[in-house]
Amino acid sequence: MQKYSVVTFGCQMNSHDSERISDLLEDTGYEATDDVEEADLVVLNTCSVREKAVQKLRSEVGRMAVLKRRRPNMVLAVAGCVAQQEGEKLLRSMRSVDLIFGPDNIPELPALLSQLEQGGPALVRTEFDLEEPSFLMARPRDGRGPTAFVTTMKGCDERCSYCIVPTTRGPERYRGSSEVLEEIRRLVDSGVKEVTLLGQTVDSYIDPESRLAPAPHAGEERARHARGKLSREDETEFPALLYAIASEVPELKRLRYTSPHPRHLTPSLIVAHRELPVLVRHVHMPVQSGSDRVLKRMLRRYSIAEYLERTGQLKEAVPGLTLSTDIIVGFPGETREDFEKTLDVMRAASFTGVYGFKYSERPFTPALKMDNDVSEEEKSERLTELFDLADDIRNAHLASLVGTDQRLLVEGFSRGGGYTGRTERNEIVHFGCSDDPVGQLVDVKIERAFKHSLAAVLLDNIRARPLGGQDQATSKRSLNVVS
Ligand code: SAH
Ligand code: SF4
Ligand code: F3S
Repeated sequence: MQKYSVVTFGCQMNSHDSERISDLLEDTGYEATDDVEEADLVVLNTCSVREKAVQKLRSEVGRMAVLKRRRPNMVLAVAGCVAQQEGEKLLRSMRSVDLIFGPDNIPELPALLSQLEQGGPALVRTEFDLEEPSFLMARPRDGRGPTAFVTTMKGCDERCSYCIVPTTRGPERYRGSSEVLEEIRRLVDSGVKEVTLLGQTVDSYIDPESRLAPAPHAGEERARHARGKLSREDETEFPALLYAIASEVPELKRLRYTSPHPRHLTPSLIVAHRELPVLVRHVHMPVQSGSDRVLKRMLRRYSIAEYLERTGQLKEAVPGLTLSTDIIVGFPGETREDFEKTLDVMRAASFTGVYGFKYSERPFTPALKMDNDVSEEEKSERLTELFDLADDIRNAHLASLVGTDQRLLVEGFSRGGGYTGRTERNEIVHFGCSDDPVGQLVDVKIERAFKHSLAAVLLDNIRARPLGGQDQATSKRSLNVVS
């Protein structure tokens, strides 16, 4: 049997694509291997959001070229955002590549491979499926675990001035709500407990099938929103989709989404968070900068006051809700004062998770015309300062949880022995258990806080027992499984 290996470089969307590529290859008769040295087909699923990611690809292709010299029949494919962005041009600089295909051309992969088998030159397919967008169904698989991603939209219409994603992923296209619901239903039937809805601006969702009932209170809340700053396009059908999921798949335990754009954090989305217990008490809401001046140059379309007001309303509606965020430091023209405003926002919003990046010039982006005037050294210093503050905020948050009871979705084994689960707010918790609770929701008491995680004990009589060596039959019954 032919063996394949997929290497993922990018975001959650990219890794979701890698899974769909794997599904297709397995249908075609390939078998997965983690060892590229023995793979007959290697797919590099690339990211081009920052220059560093592209450099990583170059060095990986170099490594593959050496392998190919030893095994000339090996097929090397480049997929993902660099493939989409560069297309044929990649072949000039990377001669060992046999196949280049963009994110929307994944369904064509089996046909492209059989074309290659018949000999002939390298193939390139980087067409967006604008007319009939396809969304590959996530396949329930044994051993996939209790969490799954479900795509609800692709592409991005925002055009933030620094970002290449609208170029590599094309314009926004939404998936029909019936397909989204069907996929969630199937996953839940196969044992999935937690679903994360996935999209570049996931909260801009509009149902192309127009079959969603309006979100309850959407109109009223809008009218109540006296500031009247929302524009028509800020209101989307995303809250309506959340209500539909909650009512049509009531067995789903946890619902997350990523990444939303702050301008669609509308009153009706806030109400959805208040009313739908399935929505977790955690939202990743990229802020990018704490300075209005910089946000304007980034074309983010909100002010810091609006960001803090809306996230503040969300926290009020859902007590205990935490936020995580993305931040870019050293955007063109960012002064020390602007950066300090970013630190202020970090404190004001108490982000418990921060993905920080140094600004990186990207092709085809409007920010290229701006003067990239913050030195690399200054960018590095600002990033270190940002992470130091993020560590302080996270440490204080984790410490505040010691002594509290938390419900975990158990995701797997812990490296140090025992098991690992996540709270609804995404805190990682390690605990000991004599039974196998993977895939279950269990209640624990938090005992200790570490730098990035927590240690806990199960809130039932199992906790008195040492790890391992237990009578499985009795421990199963006494395990405090919530679902
Ligand atoms: N659609 C998502 C994610 C986009 S890419 C969103 O809007 O949140 C993930 C993150 O990469 C962005 O949020 C941004 O913080 C960062 N990023 C994007 N382009 C970048 C660039 N040119 N330089 C540095 N960071 C960038
Ligand atoms: Fe990029 Fe902005 Fe779109 Fe996110 S919203 S993908 S940062 S253009
Ligand atoms: Fe994701 Fe990177 Fe593309 S962040 S959308 S894989 S550019």
